[in-house]
Amino acid sequence: MQTISFILKFISYKLFSKHKKAYGIHSPFLFKLISETFNSDEKLEFTQKIDSIRNSLLKSSEKITVNDIGAGSKKMKSFQRNISKIAKYSAVKKKYGELLSRIIIKFEPKTILELGTSVGLSTLYLAFPKPESIVHTIEFCPETAKKASQNFKIAETTNIVQHIGNIDEILPQLINETENFDFVFFDANHKELPTLKYFNLCLANSSEKSIFVFDDIHWSNEMERAWEKIKIHEKVTLTVDLFFFGIVFFDKNLSKENFIVKY
Ligand SMILES: C[S@@+](CC[C@H](N)C(=O)[O-])C[C@H]1O[C@@H](n2cnc3c(N)ncnc32)[C@H](O)[C@@H]1O
Repeated sequence: MQTISFILKFISYKLFSKHKKAYGIHSPFLFKLISETFNSDEKLEFTQKIDSIRNSLLKSSEKITVNDIGAGSKKMKSFQRNISKIAKYSAVKKKYGELLSRIIIKFEPKTILELGTSVGLSTLYLAFPKPESIVHTIEFCPETAKKASQNFKIAETTNIVQHIGNIDEILPQLINETENFDFVFFDANHKELPTLKYFNLCLANSSEKSIFVFDDIHWSNEMERAWEKIKIHEKVTLTVDLFFFGIVFFDKNLSKENFIVKY
């Protein structure tokens, strides 16, 4: 259940955030991003496949044993969970998944990293737009990762590299083996210290043109604190707060500014 403070924060965002149509934005970069990417009405044909996989997960009666080491649990928990519930509560919503795809289409990152695969829905939004890109995705729970792997087969994607294990161990190895991450989607451990740790690790393997997207930046006080620290990092230039997503740019041609945009 959502906390009252989260609901109040969301109501305040809905009431007071602006720039849905990019009006009043003085940054030409952000104006273009909102009008051409956030508000694009271009149909994304591949999303039909993702919708169909999502629908079958939502209807599934299958249960898996989940090892959860994400936010909210200090100790590892192992328990039975319905696939339908994982798809309903953990996976990126269609509107935000499509936004990930539109950002990929616009910036054409070659190497994409996702922290937190779950059953793979967000991975598909990252992988479909540019089949020539490589999408590395990391998931701790073996049974959840197996389900994601089945979904990647159904979707017939060829550019996803799955890593099963703890990000704390896999990310440093991946950094050694991989050139810059051009795009990173942070959607694993929604706590302050792991978020900042992964941010710093990924930053060390990124370029000025890289883009980072953080999920659920207002979910908890811990995530609020992480987001505030990320915004003031010396390498960060422009940030966009869409309430459920925080988007971070490092391009030195952009002025250091933080925008809240209604989405
Ligand atoms: C919110 S879900 C990801 C949802 C997915 N990105 C989507 O939108 O479809 C978070 C996932 O991160 C995984 N996770 C959390 N902490 C992790 C860690 N330290 N290493 C690897 N996976 C982790 C959890 O097991 C869970 O499946």
